[in-house]
Amino acid sequence: MVQTVAWIVSLFFMLMVVAVFSFVAWKSKEKREYEPIKKKWYKARTFYGITLVSLMLIITIYTLRELPYNQPVYGAGNDPTIVDVEALQFGWNMSQTEFSVGEPVEFHVTSKDVNHGFGIYDEEMNMIAQTQAMPDYTNKVYITFDEPGTYEILCLEYCGTAHHLMKTKIEVK
Ligand code: CUA
Repeated sequence: MVQTVAWIVSLFFMLMVVAVFSFVAWKSKEKREYEPIKKKWYKARTFYGITLVSLMLIITIYTLRELPYNQPVYGAGNDPTIVDVEALQFGWNMSQTEFSVGEPVEFHVTSKDVNHGFGIYDEEMNMIAQTQAMPDYTNKVYITFDEPGTYEILCLEYCGTAHHLMKTKIEVK
């Protein structure tokens, strides 16, 4: 779906570029005074610049307000399970490792030493969520498991000689 839209939008802009070039090539045969044209298009350029900057500013302010983008809104009496996750060379300390299908879970991820990566993988080893594990900072991962099974947590950032051993499992019933 996204790819189809991207393809149509790209095609549209490609056609626009072709149209503009054709127009310029066609018009280039005409001889006209340069000064009035220059004046007119300098004005257009100023207008275009101001419009673009204002538009971008509005979009930036509007979208930054929405951060963090993926923060869910929980209904009344549907509080998430908060799981404290501490990464360390070379393992994971987790306050809870068993969850239920449909239970909203928030992983609060930090690190005891260096930067690590917290990645959750399903049984087919598809990554389903991830964040950075950073010292003195907590990143949150919001997730509701919809399939029971054994999920694996892998470190996603090279953090030392035993980085590849830095994994653990969680159970979803
Ligand atoms: Cu921790 Cu790699």
